[in-house]
Amino acid sequence: MDNTIIKLENVSFSYESGDDPVKALDDVSISIKEGEFVAIVGKNGSGKSTLAKLLNALLLPSEGKVLVDGMDTSDPENTIAIRKACAMVFQNPDNQMVATIVEEDVAFGPENLGLAPHKIRTRVDESLKAVMMYEFKDQKPHQLSGGQKQRITIAGVIAMHPKCIVFDESTAMLDPAGRTDTLKIMHKLNDEGVTVIFITHYMEEITNADRIIVMGDGKVVKEGTPKEIFADSEGLKELRLGVPEVVALADLLREGGLDIPEGTLSEDELVEALCRLK
Ligand SMILES: Nc1ncnc2c1ncn2[C@@H]1O[C@H](COP(=O)(O)OP(=O)(O)OP(=O)(O)O)[C@@H](O)[C@H]1O
Ligand SMILES: [Mg+2]
Repeated sequence: MDNTIIKLENVSFSYESGDDPVKALDDVSISIKEGEFVAIVGKNGSGKSTLAKLLNALLLPSEGKVLVDGMDTSDPENTIAIRKACAMVFQNPDNQMVATIVEEDVAFGPENLGLAPHKIRTRVDESLKAVMMYEFKDQKPHQLSGGQKQRITIAGVIAMHPKCIVFDESTAMLDPAGRTDTLKIMHKLNDEGVTVIFITHYMEEITNADRIIVMGDGKVVKEGTPKEIFADSEGLKELRLGVPEVVALADLLREGGLDIPEGTLSEDELVEALCRLK
């Protein structure tokens, strides 16, 4: 069975700005399977957010085809079903909250789906529990921290039961605790079968992704497992990208003559490799 949930076929996209259109995506082909955790990285302006918006039919390709769960985004009749299948979480939670009470905010999506009140109640409660914010259900969003607000935004998305969630730098504005919590929730959802597409500038956050897609100037320039992608620190540097601190340290130790295996990605793996040297 073909379990492809996202497919981009030779997609290009240009913004019409003034006389000169800006080509943000140039002949991009990507395929993502249901249940995958895919990270997308690339320097500023490489086209990541444009790509994200194409997955939600917020933008339509200038050339090529975008299929979400088999549905062509360029057919307006598919738009509602596409947004239900593939939801988005953006960077700033303040721009994504619509109600003045937490539980009303989470209920907004399911209400728009036209669900019966008792079903909405169940979904709101389940979703708030999934992001560990149930006890905040009667609070006002402005009383919460950035990380807590982002968790409420995610609850609102989960309440719609999407198959796929695109997180566009959803951890970027959060403090370290907020980032850790959000990442944990993303992985928990993925463990439960939700496809996760995570756009980020923080390489540390994606060492346990299934796959990393590297964008550069509107094109996919590399694709592979974290081990494959981070094995080429020099190539990433040329794309103005870094590697996780652990990888940089492992590279330095290896250059210094220590026998640290290629593909060491986590602190635990590095400690293990160092202890083996004794
Ligand atoms: N609304 C717009 N109008 C015109 N050009 C745009 C618009 N939005 C983005 N662009 C341009 O399209 C290109 C890709 O932008 P995009 O926002 O997709 O990049 P990004 O990889 O998400 O960058 P960042 O890491 O800064 O979020 C850039 O050259 C950008 O300046
Ligand atoms: Mg962006």
